[in-house]
Amino acid sequence: MKRNVLCAVVIISILAASSMLFHKKHSPPEKKPSVNEPGRPLPDESHTFSPFVPQQQPDRICLTLTHDPTTSINIQWRTHNLSGHPVVQIALLSAGPIEKTGIIQTCLASSQIFRHPHYDAVHHHANITGLKPATTYLYRVGDGLKWSEWFQFQTSQPSHQPFEFLFFGDLQEDIRGSCSRIIRQAFLNHPNTRFMLFIGDIVRHGNNDTEWHEFFQATGWLTGMFPTIATPGNHEYKNTQITSAWGAHFQFPSNGPQGCEELNNTCYFIDYQGTRFISLNTNAMRGFHLKAVLAQRQWLQTLLRNNDNDWTVIFHHHPVDSPTQSESGKKQLQWLFSPLYEKYHVDLVLQGDAHTYGRGHKSHDKNNPDSPIYIVSNSGAHMNKPDAPWASVSGSDKQLYQHISISKNQLNYQAIAADGSLFDHFILKK
Ligand SMILES: [Fe+2]
Repeated sequence: MKRNVLCAVVIISILAASSMLFHKKHSPPEKKPSVNEPGRPLPDESHTFSPFVPQQQPDRICLTLTHDPTTSINIQWRTHNLSGHPVVQIALLSAGPIEKTGIIQTCLASSQIFRHPHYDAVHHHANITGLKPATTYLYRVGDGLKWSEWFQFQTSQPSHQPFEFLFFGDLQEDIRGSCSRIIRQAFLNHPNTRFMLFIGDIVRHGNNDTEWHEFFQATGWLTGMFPTIATPGNHEYKNTQITSAWGAHFQFPSNGPQGCEELNNTCYFIDYQGTRFISLNTNAMRGFHLKAVLAQRQWLQTLLRNNDNDWTVIFHHHPVDSPTQSESGKKQLQWLFSPLYEKYHVDLVLQGDAHTYGRGHKSHDKNNPDSPIYIVSNSGAHMNKPDAPWASVSGSDKQLYQHISISKNQLNYQAIAADGSLFDHFILKK
């Protein structure tokens, strides 16, 4: 018995020793991690689980306003291939499961493939029409197998009714890291907003898909619930061409100047509950598109002359007068456009580009001092110093968003900083 126990102990000891030898021979040496030591390398963008690579599950779901927001809306999204038929399903708002209330409309989308250095993406666009005014709808996008979650949106009122919207200046730098908080805070403070207005330079490199992904990370599900309107900045251009990413993500009304293809999807107008919003493409005013400048001026004049809205808001990326003297105002805007703003009593001109804040009146027509209020704002992390005397309110080193509420007789304007403090405000009355 004792001999058996001794044998068992010897065998176990031999096995344990050989196990240790085996372990030492085949396992990597133990090493204490150092604070400065890099971790395992992250996969590059070519890897399928990079967040920038589209999946079969829809992402970057984005509503944009149409020419008639009372009865229609545009929906954009992205997937990795063209499997199945890309469709939008529409249902009426319901308290319970949507399966009980049923789908009231299914709309087939159009699709386009975009080739990136390490992957392809398919961008889908659907124009939903035949909706009822002042109605909340549910929708989801997909291909019959993979679906987004159900989102909801509201069509606008057919009459002049009060509403609120948010205006964001250039995002451009550190979009996910620094711009997300101001967008989120804007919606936390103003959940009744009806849409978002972006003044261009949403990204720094217009054809960089990673930066566009940052924008959709920063906005999250908001772009699927609150429509976007936007005008392009110089960073959405490469030389004289707008980057393809603009049209991939946003489809705006095609009611701009006729016969000027370079203005498509950038120059348009929307009448929203008694306010006319007009997007001008100021990139076309930078010396290389004289035809586009003159076409916009003629189109604008017709729009302003035939306007039965209570309020008029014009928005373009480059400012008529910049809050920074180093950013000289665009002479075409000062000579050809701002006289029209004054003649036809435009109320607000929303602008960006200068990466600082300025607000003020400045008439460019001595015979007609009824100038609109010009605003230049900045929502992103890149800052310039204001040093131009035209602005009655100016400031820098602040990320700002603007909340604007409009009723028939009153316009309330607030510029709010990233810490929630009120930086600027005024009221216009009619
Ligand atoms: Fe910019």
